[in-house]
Amino acid sequence: MHFLQRIIFIISFVTWTHATGKIRSDCSCGEANIINRGRIVNGKEATKNKYPWLAAMYTPTEFMCGGSIISDRNILTAGHCIFYVDKPFSTYWVLGMHNQVLQDGDRYYIDHYSLHPKFHNFSVYDEYDMALVTVRGIIRFNRNIRPICLTLPNTDYTGKQMTVAGWGRLDDSKDAKMGTILQETNVHVKPPNDCAIEVARLVRYNDEAMICAHEKGTDSCSGDLGGPLFFESDVNRYEAIGVVSFGDGCARDFPGIYGKLSDMQTQLWIKQYIVDTNSDICSDPAHKIQSNYFNDVFKINF
Ligand SMILES: *[C@@H]1O[C@H](CO)[C@@H](O)[C@H](O)[C@H]1NC(C)=O
Repeated sequence: MHFLQRIIFIISFVTWTHATGKIRSDCSCGEANIINRGRIVNGKEATKNKYPWLAAMYTPTEFMCGGSIISDRNILTAGHCIFYVDKPFSTYWVLGMHNQVLQDGDRYYIDHYSLHPKFHNFSVYDEYDMALVTVRGIIRFNRNIRPICLTLPNTDYTGKQMTVAGWGRLDDSKDAKMGTILQETNVHVKPPNDCAIEVARLVRYNDEAMICAHEKGTDSCSGDLGGPLFFESDVNRYEAIGVVSFGDGCARDFPGIYGKLSDMQTQLWIKQYIVDTNSDICSDPAHKIQSNYFNDVFKINF
């Protein structure tokens, strides 16, 4: 082997074998691309690549779901996005995208996926509606492609304002067009007891599996499904607390239901999967505690 080739081979081998759930220091999670902070923008269209963790899932024929990048190989999405698709391995993800029709981003195919271990499909909804997808190769991070931070275990966000973003339908009518450009909206997390009462006619509210959030006249909608429910923390970093799961139409009185990320079992599932798929996370300045948390759980080289 040529000397230079050998060096490259050794470097890539070392990089590969060391990708086992470390915290990468060359990247950091939850950094949005906020231009002209404070300027009032009309409408709800997000500026280009504002939320670089947003990902879009396509079947060979159509746009399917949203998702969010959480490590250098993994995307978090809704369980039903994977469960009900005919051939999961024929789907692909577009990252760093702005325009859903143009698919103007980087395309990644699927290597592996994992439904939440407690995912359960009922006739009108799904419980623990979360799945993790591993792309082939390593995601190349840049300004437009970066991961979001994850919430810590057992955190309560009742009353707090959150953001939902996606390429979902623009209104509640049956033939409403999917959004071409990423749309965003704000909702408030409701107290679990209110959720239980308000959704009781459709589902059994499970506080370990679900978050519910609502805002009159605005909501996540089909096509936003799988995308994150997230907020900007005190240190200007964004963290995900939920995954868009289902609602009853869009922006009616029924609250939006989200897969809950702060549940301890869900956190363990995500972290174990990150390790199992040899993927690394980016540093998380807001949660210095997280590295200890990983360590305690797995006793591995985070
Ligand atoms: C759950 O999903 C399976 C496979 O798609 C389906 O056959 C079954 O009817 C679903 N169960 C319910 C209650 O919808």
